[in-house]
Amino acid sequence: MNLKNKVVVKIGILGLGTVGTGTVQILQDPVGRHHLLQTLEIARVGVRSIDKQRDVDLPLALVTTDLDSIVTDPEIEIIVEVLGGIEPARSLILKAIEHGKHIVTANKAVIAKFGDEIFTAANRAGVYVMLEAAVGGGIPVIQPLKQSLGVNRIQRVTGIINGTTNYILTRMTVEGGEFDDILADAKNLGYAEADPTADVDGLDAGDKIAILASLAFGGRIKRDDVSCEGIRKISATDIAYADKLNFVIKLLAIAERVEDGAVSVRVHPTFVPKDRPLATVNGVYNAILIEGDPLGQVMLFGPGAGAGATASAIVSDLLAIVGVIQSKPSREDVVNSPSTALHPLLSCSHDGYISIAPLASLRSSFYVRFLCMDVPGVIGKLGTRFGAHNVSIESIVQTGFQGDRAEIVVVTHDVSEGDFESALAEIRKLDSIASIPSIIRVL
Ligand code: HSE
Repeated sequence: MNLKNKVVVKIGILGLGTVGTGTVQILQDPVGRHHLLQTLEIARVGVRSIDKQRDVDLPLALVTTDLDSIVTDPEIEIIVEVLGGIEPARSLILKAIEHGKHIVTANKAVIAKFGDEIFTAANRAGVYVMLEAAVGGGIPVIQPLKQSLGVNRIQRVTGIINGTTNYILTRMTVEGGEFDDILADAKNLGYAEADPTADVDGLDAGDKIAILASLAFGGRIKRDDVSCEGIRKISATDIAYADKLNFVIKLLAIAERVEDGAVSVRVHPTFVPKDRPLATVNGVYNAILIEGDPLGQVMLFGPGAGAGATASAIVSDLLAIVGVIQSKPSREDVVNSPSTALHPLLSCSHDGYISIAPLASLRSSFYVRFLCMDVPGVIGKLGTRFGAHNVSIESIVQTGFQGDRAEIVVVTHDVSEGDFESALAEIRKLDSIASIPSIIRVL
């Protein structure tokens, strides 16, 4: 391809951590990759500290701690935001948009929480905000949902979209260890952050499924409406019961259309039957199962994090924007009619909010583990309380003891979550029930 007539597109990169470094490495090594990469020029790179040792060679003149000067630089057309976190990322993105720059970001937290503000500003300014790297690392899922799968009526998106928790659960399954010990080891090995809250409490997966739900169901999602339960309470005992019952425990992020057109968006540990494809996704890998009409099921699988994988998604977004810049109307056209000048398959095309179904309105099957006094009639009382609230039991077993407490495991049929909670509220009051250490949904 003759690139002589192709305009060079200058980019500014905010952040030179793992993903920023991976992005620079791809851009500095374009041979054998898409030819349009050769039109991209790194104009400025913003960092917190100039003196830090780096894995890339960049002329010192390109590197600055003045991030504001990058997002306002008139020569720069695209800003790559790989700072992470809410601030200063949000303010810098908004300022860059105000200055007419397209955005490529890996920042799921800022998009999930401030997507409304950011996309409204972007549509007004006639610029793109691209976020392939924000969900599933290197797995292409954002553009497929917008484009290749866009003609399908999506029924459900189910993801294993947090590598840290999938790594911990996989090791608990393989080794039989407890959560705290494996988390400590994962931190030492660099698979978990020093502060693992966002990952192990399901918040990172919550940000990501909010983004996927918004694309799959064509509307905005209030992040606070996404219910998130993490994996801290999962014990070696639950993992062992899951195995005996022919399941594995996975942290699933689910967005699905339910009754009345509302959408349920949630993250929780789930018993997944061993014969389902998602059950085989192990270690730090991610997978997203998309179910729609008329396509049926598609599962996307791959590395959900890491420098190269995430940078691959960042640079693919850069290419998509460059492709449009190279073939689109002039900047004057965009300024005169901002949102209509945007490519409809790359821009955000919805601005209404989706109605979110409350958890209590859903139907689900549950695994519940009780610790009880070993006295006559306990199983009968459990059965009566569940029955009184329309909770049908699929199996109930007393297999052993934890100390002097008898352990009873119940698996229900599909029941209303509201009915199930009402039954549990009564069961908690029974003298013979010492505690309910685990309640886990079954897929
Ligand atoms: N912390 C994330 C995970 C990676 O464990 O999957 C970046 O999204």
